Amino acid sequence: MIHASAPGKAILLGEHSVVYRGPAIVLAIDLRAHIWAEEREGDGIWIEAPDIGVSGHFDARGRYHPIRGGSERWRSLNPIRVVALEAMRRLEAHRGLRIRVESEIPPAEGLGSSAAIAVATAAAVGRLLSGEELSLGEVCEIAYEGERIVHGTPSGIDNHISTYGGALRYERGRGFERFKVEELPLIIGDSGRRRSTGALVAKVRRLWERHREVVDAIIDAMATLSEEGYKALRGGDLKRLGELMDIDHGLLSALGVSTPELDRMIYAARSAGALGAKLTGAGGGGCIIALVEQPDRGRVAEAIRRAGGRPLRAGFTDIGVEVEEV
Ligand code: PMV
Repeated sequence: MIHASAPGKAILLGEHSVVYRGPAIVLAIDLRAHIWAEEREGDGIWIEAPDIGVSGHFDARGRYHPIRGGSERWRSLNPIRVVALEAMRRLEAHRGLRIRVESEIPPAEGLGSSAAIAVATAAAVGRLLSGEELSLGEVCEIAYEGERIVHGTPSGIDNHISTYGGALRYERGRGFERFKVEELPLIIGDSGRRRSTGALVAKVRRLWERHREVVDAIIDAMATLSEEGYKALRGGDLKRLGELMDIDHGLLSALGVSTPELDRMIYAARSAGALGAKLTGAGGGGCIIALVEQPDRGRVAEAIRRAGGRPLRAGFTDIGVEVEEV
């Protein structure tokens, strides 16, 4: 049997503005999705997701036969099937498969859960079928097929960061640049509220259509801010980075994507000593990210909890996808 795992992500700066212009700065975080894959007699793909109480069999014609969770739950397993089929197609190896998925990453909260599952699936199935590790580039491309099922035509940020780990700068038209980060002490606060990235991107678009000059000016400021944040991060200037995160959150609020729950966690984290705090991802729920130096970590985590959130023990990680035979 093959086990693969891949990390989730948090956007440090540039969510929403990156849809228009300017960079997004993205970090891998050490919450991981795990996939176990093995061959199985028979046609098709059996998938189990015990975390969400779903399992079922996609037969060779793609029809879904539920085992646990009802027939409408095929949708939550389908991206895994699509990634496994893409791996089989590329490797020209068609087998019956059994795949089990478990994830530490809260789904639909902007932490890259679906991409981490797709990346781990691509790596596990690729290794199982070929007997050797696929290149990271291949894993990343195969995983993107799963992301397209979940998100339409996503930027590819999530599958990139989950494949390679570390830190990434992404800008439309310029693509991806991986860069080195020495130290980045983070705390993530989880509101527990799921949300749809597409709906929030559409909400910002509607605001832009009604107030183009104003929203364009906000987006310009956010793009400048991400650029400055990128420099501060590379130069190790955490104080400056924290200030930029605070300003960015103000602008994200102006775009209408924060919520009272997120704001409560953010103000609590700042009052407890965070160098900066902002929402991360599309907003409307999901998570906040706070930059917190070691001596203040306990206090900030407790403040997030008192503000109604769940502090996650998830730091920045350099470790991307990993594969092993078990
Ligand atoms: O899906 P999330 O929560 O990581 O948000 C993605 C970032 C956005 O800028 C809001 C959308 C996008 O496609 O870049």
